[in-house]
Formats: sequence, structure tokens, C-alpha cells
Amino acid sequence: MEAMQQDRTDWVRIHPLVVRITHWINVLAILIMVTSGWRIYNASPFFPFRIPSELTLGGWLAGALQWHFAAMWLLVLNGIVYVTYGIVSGHFKRKLLPLTPRAILHDVLEALRGKLAHEDLSVYNAAQRAAYLAIILCGVVLVFSGLAIWKPVQLQEITAVFGGYEGARVVHFLAMALLVLIVLVHVLMVILVPRTLPTMFTGRARRAS
Ligand code: HEM
Repeated sequence: MEAMQQDRTDWVRIHPLVVRITHWINVLAILIMVTSGWRIYNASPFFPFRIPSELTLGGWLAGALQWHFAAMWLLVLNGIVYVTYGIVSGHFKRKLLPLTPRAILHDVLEALRGKLAHEDLSVYNAAQRAAYLAIILCGVVLVFSGLAIWKPVQLQEITAVFGGYEGARVVHFLAMALLVLIVLVHVLMVILVPRTLPTMFTGRARRAS
């Protein structure tokens, strides 16, 4: 009995099941979306560079488009589940807010000095909160600019918001670039604080005592 109580008090719940499932589905969907998107971009680049084809998915334009459209459904449906859960359950409010520019600056500087404390894994620091909110925002911009490129005639109101078809392509690319950058830093942080990784599978961590 005592052992059971000990066990119960030793563990803290960190990530809800919905967040864990949608996180890993999202990783798969974004990996497919980004690498097939790079192949689509290579067919008609609007910046003076191409993405090395070894990093792309789909083999050729039509193959890449098929991957892109297939993973699009996964990304959007999974994104709707994650964002709806985040808002309705209060997860976003609890874990990602409040957030001030001052707190972000403070925690980013501390992180760069290697001094950012991350003892309580159930609380995100301001740098993490900003990164996760930016990821969600990039996702929304990517979906809407993607819709504008996909159906520029039927969804011309959305396309107009981005300044037309070409504008939507540029916004889509820039949102992808920002997302990839944030994800690279995110993965680097996980490598630097590896004990956060199992929590994204099990949902719990030992209480720091
Ligand atoms: C497409 C790539 C990725 C995106 C968009 C992404 C996005 C996110 C988001 C939004 C959160 C916060 C979840 C929440 O509480 O609502 C999160 C947390 C987390 N992610 Fe990712 N992620 C990506 C890739 C990865 C990868 C590859 C790993 C593992 C190497 C990873 C490991 C984690 C961990 C461990 C946390 C929890 C951090 C903590 O508790 O301090 N993520 N991710």
C-alpha cells in the first residue's frame, strides 16, 4: 500500500494522451509535407536556389504532389483535433500562456548562456511557449496559403488575402522555412535536455525532489 502511494506521488502527469498522439502524427505529416513540398518547389523555383533532390520526396513533380495532397489531409485533420483540444480543454491557456516579450527575451538569453532551468517538466519556459505558439501559427498560415495555391479560382477570397497566387506561394514558402527553423531548434533542445523525450511517449515524468 505504502509502495503504491509512493509510486503515485513520485510521478507527475506532463502531456495528455491527445497531445502525445497528435504530436507524433504531426511529425510524420510535416516531414512528408516539407520534403514533398521541396520537390514541388524545385519544379518551378522562385528564389535563386533549388533544394538538393536527395532531401526531397516524390521523385518527380506529379509524385511529390500526390504525397503532398495525401499528407495534407493527415496534417489538417490532426491539426484540427490538436487545436480544438488545446482550446476546449484549456491546454493552450494552461501551458502556453501567459507570454510576454520580456519573458521570451529573458528565457532565450538564459538558454543561450546554458542557464535555463528545466527542472519542472510540467511547465514550459517562455522560449518554449513562444516556439510552440509560433509553430501553431505557422501551421495555420501554411494551411490557408496552401488552400490559396491549390484552388486559386474557387477560393479567390483567400488567395486575395495573400496578394494573389504568387504572393501565396512566397508566404507558403516563408512559413515553411520558419517552421523548419523552429523545429530544428526544438529538436536540438530535446537533444540537449533528453529527459523530456520519454515524456512525449509516456506522458509522465518523475517528480524532481
Ligand atoms: C514536425 C516537427 C515537430 C513539430 C511541429 C513539433 C511541435 C511540438 C509542439 C507544438 C509541442 C508542444 C505540445 C503541447 O504541449 O501542446 C512539442 C513538444 C515536444 N516535442 Fe515536438 N515537434 C516536432 C518534432 C519533434 C521531434 C522530432 C521530437 C523528438 C526528437 C520532438 C519532441 C518533443 C518533446 C520531447 C516535446 C515536449 C517538450 C517538453 O516537455 O519540454 N518533437 N512539439
